[in-house]
Formats: sequence, structure tokens, C-alpha cells
Amino acid sequence: MRGCFRAAKLPINQRCCPLRDRDHNISLTELALELPRILVGVRQILPGDENALMRQEFETLKSHAVSAQRSSGAARIVARELLSTLGIKNAALPKSRSGAPIWPEGIVGSLAHDAHCAIAVVGSNSEIRGLGVDIEPAEDLSPNVSDLVATPRERAAVLRQPFGSKLLFAAKEATYKAVHPLDHEFLEHHDVEIDFARRQARVSNGRLVDLRFSVSTHVVALALVPNDPRA
Ligand SMILES: CC(C)(COP(=O)(O)OP(=O)(O)OC[C@H]1O[C@@H](n2cnc3c(N)ncnc32)[C@H](O)[C@@H]1OP(=O)(O)O)[C@@H](O)C(=O)NCCC(=O)NCCS
Repeated sequence: MRGCFRAAKLPINQRCCPLRDRDHNISLTELALELPRILVGVRQILPGDENALMRQEFETLKSHAVSAQRSSGAARIVARELLSTLGIKNAALPKSRSGAPIWPEGIVGSLAHDAHCAIAVVGSNSEIRGLGVDIEPAEDLSPNVSDLVATPRERAAVLRQPFGSKLLFAAKEATYKAVHPLDHEFLEHHDVEIDFARRQARVSNGRLVDLRFSVSTHVVALALVPNDPRA
């Protein structure tokens, strides 16, 4: 399994990015190069993607809106493609009661979607304990919302970089997805503090999470809890 992740890192991302529209072109190459243990794929959400949902997945979705089913179907198309490169074919990814996807044995992963794009990340649980991803259009949050999301310490950092408020928001959402399946704690935005310089999130329970970002037409934040045998 370990070898598979390393060997497959870049071609997989290119193959799983069938985004023909230049406006939705998300460069994930940097993420893949930096995190060779993780597979990342993205897809433009298309009409009909809702049909990719397996029955056991469909039954666990909370929303009956076709748009939500379509997004969830698109994310699972990407995830299944990534998993198939690891030899796991046609994996069902139903949702647990918390909303988190249930991954095949030995796999950790995360899904996200905005109005146009779906993204999936997967890794091996021999190396990674938790993974989280978020994708957002590259637009700043309104100042009011940004002030709600950012702690006083984070506010200056947000102003220093393009789309800083959206990067912060995406980092917190990705962190939540990485740690909620481990800690089962509901977190408010101020329970997670982002340190952009260290590319790290600190959760109020003391947990540290590694972060990586990709910015193009979209902001992608990836959160990773390494599998440290000493922890
Ligand atoms: C989980 C949450 C962050 C998802 O965000 P969202 O904007 O609704 O939607 P996204 O497209 O980014 O992500 C949706 C995916 O998140 C995943 N997800 C949902 N709940 C999850 C959980 N508890 N743990 C991990 N992943 C989860 C699912 O795979 C879902 O996709 P699916 O419905 O197709 O299976 C959000 O719904 C939530 O529960 N927030 C409460 C906590 C919070 O946001 N606190 C502030 C930040 S710390």
C-alpha cells in the first residue's frame, strides 16, 4: 500500500482532473508534490453525477435536493477513481451518522464540493490518522463573516495574503473534517487557530494538524493528522 501511494502521486492527479473549463482549472500539482502519501482528485460537477450514488450511499444522504445529490455523487466518482488505483474497486462510501464518509478498511479520506467542483483525498491509515479537505471559490469572505471566523490573533495574518479570509475558512473546515472522526467533538471556528507560517492548525483540545494550500480559481485546504506511533 505504501509503495502505491508514492509511485502513483502525480499521474493520478492529472488523470483525475477532467476539468475542461479553464475557469475551473484547479492546480493540485503542488499539493501532490508536497504530500506524496496522499492522492488528490478533482472533478467539475456535471448533470447526471447524482446517478453515480450507490443505493447504500443514497440512503445515508441527508438532503433530497438533486443539487446536493449531484455534488455528493461527483465527489464519490473522484474518490472511487482514486481508490481504484489502489486496487479497491467500486467502493461504496456511505455517510456515518456524523456525516463523515465511511472509508474502506485501511483508508482515510475526505470529500468536499462547492457549486461547481468536487474534490476527494485519500491516504493509507498506516501513515495518516486523519485527512480533511475543503474547496471554495477564490473570493474573500465579507469583512463581517471574516471577523466571525478569525480569532484576534488570526486577523492580521488574513490581511497579509490574497484570499486570506477564505484560506482561513477553508483551513478550519478541512481541520474539522480531519479531526472530527478522531475526537468526535463539535468545534466552533474559534476552537481552531491557524498558523499560516507554520502551515499548522491547533485545535482547542491541543491536537496539531498539518495544513497545505492550493490557490487558483479556487482555494483548496488540506488538513492532515500524521499517524505518529508515539502519539
Ligand atoms: C462538515 C462540514 C465542515 C462540511 O462543510 P460543508 O460546507 O457543509 O460542505 P463541504 O462540501 O465542504 O463538505 C461536505 C462533505 O464533508 C464531509 N463531512 C460531513 N460531515 C463530516 C464530519 N463530521 N467529519 C468529516 N467529514 C464530514 C462529507 O463527506 C460531505 O460530503 P458528502 O455529503 O458528499 O458525503 C460542515 O457541514 C459542518 O458540520 N460544520 C460544523 C463544524 C464547523 O464547521 N465548525 C467550524 C470550523 S472548525
